[in-house]
Amino acid sequence: MKIHNASEERESNLVLALDVSTKVKDERDIRELCGRAKTILDDTERFIAGLKVNFQLLLPLGLYGYLQEVLDAARAYGLPTIMDCKINDVEHTNRWAATHFFDAGFDALTANPFAGWEGGLKGVFDEARRREKGVILLVYMSHHSAEENYGREIVLSDGKVKPCYRFFAEKAVEWGADGVVVGATRPNVISEVRKMLPKDVLIFSPGVAIQGGDVETVFRAGADYAIVGRIICEAKKPGETAKWYVERIKSVLRDRG
Ligand code: XMP
Repeated sequence: MKIHNASEERESNLVLALDVSTKVKDERDIRELCGRAKTILDDTERFIAGLKVNFQLLLPLGLYGYLQEVLDAARAYGLPTIMDCKINDVEHTNRWAATHFFDAGFDALTANPFAGWEGGLKGVFDEARRREKGVILLVYMSHHSAEENYGREIVLSDGKVKPCYRFFAEKAVEWGADGVVVGATRPNVISEVRKMLPKDVLIFSPGVAIQGGDVETVFRAGADYAIVGRIICEAKKPGETAKWYVERIKSVLRDRG
């Protein structure tokens, strides 16, 4: 995955979730939001290994509209970009969505394994493989009630029982995912999933700080990247805050060897 090079060059394992948004009354609001997003990116770019965008920014800016300015800026900095769309529909619409995200310049997208393979996510993986882009599969989300589903024990067709997230981690390997998402609020699950995955299947962990995850614990447990949003985007000095996280992560990775 492209992020590996950016991470090595920048000595960073931090992905910025560019989580800003606004109400839109007219085009001025959209321009102002785009400017705000780019200012945060400019301020933090030296300290991050990649940029993640979700719907709260995509919808007001528009995929082929102002969002292109943000994606162009990321590309100029040499930063890979992830669309956090958690893609989750039937195959023909999933494939179109993936086609647009990749055409628009994203390097990877997130997908929800609940959609399944045939008639679900297969088209997304095919499209990604054809273009050498990445797919990152949700294995266990970070918010509290994720345990209602990702943590639930499921009965497989052979009668065996296992937690849903273990099943999804196996699917990530079987389907050839480039990475998985495991919430920073569940370090024990990160350790468990790390043991199940080959080393080149990366663990991305959102949920640090505001959602309660501790960045050092997350990397001690085996995460490859932390995804951090509000605590950086809403800081007075986003760059300084990003730098603080990068230093914490580096100290753990030095010990991890
Ligand atoms: P904060 O502000 O809490 O933002 O640092 C976290 C960012 O990560 C996204 N997020 C997730 N994405 N699975 C995902 O794929 C998750 O479990 C998850 N939890 C948070 C969220 O959209 C935000 O951009």
